[in-house]
Amino acid sequence: MRETPQSADLLLWYDANARVLPWRTSPVGRKAGHLPDPYRVWMSEVMLQQTTVAAVRSYFLRFTELWPTVTDLANADDAAVMGEWAGLGYYARARNLLKCARVVATDYGGTFPDTHGALLKLPGIGPYTASAIASIAFDRPETVVDGNVERVISRLFAVHTPLPTAKPELTALAADLTPNERPGDYAQAVMDLGATICTPRNPTCGICPWINACQARATGIAADLPRKLPKKAKPTRLGIAYLARRQDGAWLLETRPDKGLLGGMLGWPGTEWSVDAQAEAPPCRASWSDPGGEVRHTFTHFHLKLSLRVAVVSETEVPERGQFILTSDFRPSDLPTVMRKAFDLASGAFAMD
Ligand code: ADE
Repeated sequence: MRETPQSADLLLWYDANARVLPWRTSPVGRKAGHLPDPYRVWMSEVMLQQTTVAAVRSYFLRFTELWPTVTDLANADDAAVMGEWAGLGYYARARNLLKCARVVATDYGGTFPDTHGALLKLPGIGPYTASAIASIAFDRPETVVDGNVERVISRLFAVHTPLPTAKPELTALAADLTPNERPGDYAQAVMDLGATICTPRNPTCGICPWINACQARATGIAADLPRKLPKKAKPTRLGIAYLARRQDGAWLLETRPDKGLLGGMLGWPGTEWSVDAQAEAPPCRASWSDPGGEVRHTFTHFHLKLSLRVAVVSETEVPERGQFILTSDFRPSDLPTVMRKAFDLASGAFAMD
């Protein structure tokens, strides 16, 4: 690791073009010695795994407004945190967020550790997140490699090896470029370059600070890199979800088990989701009907087609699964996206007040 011509050019570009993001400190602020709050850096990095900046922004603002410090988050109700996370996806991140906050609050007195090694021991923090926090929050010369950085580096060095095979090669090349000076700004600068100039399609090479150094640009293949191995086709799974509404308006819902898909989230009782059609498995006695249509949703490893059954049930009904939640205690926004789609599709079947 050293000061390279490339890192100097990129930092100059970043000084003028850094994106303004709610978890960031500007290059001017950092040069004056103001590093961002590690809690906010950690939260943003966990949210930004697999999720775009545009989608994360409002969630980040809401979480930090509700829970301004890691100790506040550690003391939060699990259901409140899972509800606020609804819609962001990859719900294991939210469960780990809470676990990590509680470890930092109890074992570290509410102060995040400041080394890559110590951060790596915390729940939900892998090598990527540990490097991001160590560099951005503590200005340690760690190398941060996400999808944006892989694209930038594969083009800069014209790496033809396809992803994911190329990951170790790209990480080594990226590590060689990481400077000891301003490593936190540098990490964010590479991300910004990938997000705004070195984009997947139609990169705007003409205004890139690395135009002269870029080997892919020199041979006119920037937009063709990185190469990627073909993805496996996703199977389609089928399932049935049951939406029961009691005469007083309460909805029959369940909290899904912590382990597994959508773990810890609120959802409609239903069948397993599998590649074969499912036998009926209603959660209570009722006269169920099919409102027509189906919910489609894509998860990491499969597509889902979910049929619905709806029923109005009497106030004496005791369900075999789940519990009735009064409308005053139910926010549709607490549902993960697939369950929200089911709610929206079924709503027409109920006389909603
Ligand atoms: N993507 C992942 N981490 C990021 C960050 N700190 N800033 C912008 N985009 C990011």
